[in-house]
Amino acid sequence: MIDTHAHLTSGEYSGDLAAVLRRAREAGLNAIIAVGFDIPSSRASVQLSEVEEDVFAAVGVHPHDARTLDEAALAALEDLCTNPKVVAIGEIGLDFYRNLSPRRIQERAFRQQIRLARRLQLPIIIHDRDAHRRVIEIMRSEKVCCGVMHCFSGDINIARQALSMGLHISFAGPITYHGRRAADIVRRIPEDRILIETDCPYLAPAPHRGKRNEPAYLRLVAERLAELLGKTVEEVDAITENNARHLFKLPE
Ligand code: NI
Repeated sequence: MIDTHAHLTSGEYSGDLAAVLRRAREAGLNAIIAVGFDIPSSRASVQLSEVEEDVFAAVGVHPHDARTLDEAALAALEDLCTNPKVVAIGEIGLDFYRNLSPRRIQERAFRQQIRLARRLQLPIIIHDRDAHRRVIEIMRSEKVCCGVMHCFSGDINIARQALSMGLHISFAGPITYHGRRAADIVRRIPEDRILIETDCPYLAPAPHRGKRNEPAYLRLVAERLAELLGKTVEEVDAITENNARHLFKLPE
């Protein structure tokens, strides 16, 4: 199993990160992608990936922090990408739910980072909250072809458009909260495009909902996915791990 989206450098783990990583390994995780949301967390994710062999890093500026993406920040991101443990640009995208940065600024930051990813031939990790149509429009105009819709919350129509661009779809704890809606979407995603993640420390799967999440709980997401797909959890592990290795070009 691979947790393709974990905020391991969050202050929530400052007291017990070693124990969190140990529990993840005991739960059967073979790799974790530590995802940044601004320059300091991106840098910290890269540093962690340098000391933990099974941790990889994604670097990027989240739409909430879009106004911090100036020329110096873009240069810092590009510099971080020279590290071979960096496997993606993310998380990047649009958040029209909280609108912590103005929409125009969010869109500019999203485009700039898509262009950086294309130039460096890295996949992108996309955050899309209440901005489905605009995210798709921007990705289409920027000719995005490689990445993942993280913690997917759109409908089947948005999923189809993302799939038609070549993107993967990733599921997290929320698929353990809802019944039919999750099932309808999950069953219509081609098997070779499905990923799983925790998005920890947020969105803990049931029965830990509302508490601190951690990579070890990825098993609960995999179990739910297996139930929805009518497969064994071993099959889901193998499928999603293979997909993650392929998209992020992780070593075997
Ligand atoms: Ni995230």
